[in-house]
Amino acid sequence: MGKPKIFVTRKLPGPCFERLLQEFDAEVWPEWQAPPYEVILEKVKNVDGLVSLLTDKIDCNLLSEGAKHSLKIVSQYAVGYDNIDVECATRLGIYVTNTPGVLTESTAELTWALILAAARHIVRADKYVRSGEWYRSKTGWHPELFLGMELQGKTLGIIGFGRIGRAVARIGAKGFGMKVLYYDRYRAPKEVEEELNAKYVSLEELLREADIVSIHVPLTPETKGMIGEKELRMMKPTAVLVNTARGAVVDIDALTKALKEGWIAAAGLDVFPVEPFPPDHPIMKLDNVVVVPHIGSATREARYQMTCAVLENLLAFKRGEVPPNLVNKEVVEKRKPGF
Ligand code: NAP
Ligand code: GLV
Ligand code: GLV
Repeated sequence: MGKPKIFVTRKLPGPCFERLLQEFDAEVWPEWQAPPYEVILEKVKNVDGLVSLLTDKIDCNLLSEGAKHSLKIVSQYAVGYDNIDVECATRLGIYVTNTPGVLTESTAELTWALILAAARHIVRADKYVRSGEWYRSKTGWHPELFLGMELQGKTLGIIGFGRIGRAVARIGAKGFGMKVLYYDRYRAPKEVEEELNAKYVSLEELLREADIVSIHVPLTPETKGMIGEKELRMMKPTAVLVNTARGAVVDIDALTKALKEGWIAAAGLDVFPVEPFPPDHPIMKLDNVVVVPHIGSATREARYQMTCAVLENLLAFKRGEVPPNLVNKEVVEKRKPGF
């Protein structure tokens, strides 16, 4: 067999991309914008593998078309894979891989950037200086200008205590001496709890006690809308909510109300229920929310290594081995790895 054919839905950063182009007969979508669904649907009829992004909708219809031809693997350039119908892929014997771990620290750092920005009004204060308002105020320093919340010794609540949740907890515990509460499906090992000064609690207790609440669960049918009006009303009026997981985990209209009416103090958002998010949504009028455009893993370090992870997953599959970051482990019983 010649080189396996793959369709790559965007050019990926870093040196591993060159290697990908050498090892595979690759067609790369050249645009900045995502290829339309119909384009991917056509492409999967003619390839052995697909490299997808979280913006690509890889549904059962598309996977079935691919499976009718020769599609055998979807190698996703992200850790989250809620855009892929994984169950359907498994049924069809299609391998699905992701890029866990290499983006953990970058995403945790961005989470802290949002926590600090929200807690200390960084964006509002920047605008105040730039717009000339500070200059016009004729007051260089004022005892009550942009009063925020100190983090030292406060309580950090982590929803979803996986790789990123634990990294955020570590920075909070070690860097800011914070007490950590966490909620997850399962309790973490004792050593992890001790190392991170973390206590396993119910979601309700976490929301009632935490000064900072940070979301790190994947988007699944169970986590969709997990934080709505009821949950937001449980939080402290001084609390900050940060979401760097997936937008649909939070009910954005309830959050808008919570920020407007002061049920909570501030929020930091990297992710939105639809992306790109329309600037005319009412939440965008509020100055107690800091927003960035889904850049959690956007460092050269993380993005380069994510490209290498995509490559490693495809190369392992090519060698007939189980890819290191296989999402649907049960697929192995359906079909042996290999093109
Ligand atoms: P992870 O290690 O799998 O952590 C997720 C944690 O959430 C796991 O402990 C998981 O438990 C738990 N969980 C799953 N369903 C739950 C539920 N219904 N209730 C409570 N806990 C639940 O994943 P990760 O690498 O930390 O990534 C987490 C998510 O962050 C990704 O899925 C992705 O959506 C998002 N992300 C965003 C960015 C960004 O750019 N903003 C970057 C990277 C990742 P189990 O282990 O039992 O499933
Ligand atoms: C980014 O959001 C990812 O899931 O990797
Ligand atoms: C602030 O700049 C201080 O010196 O307290």
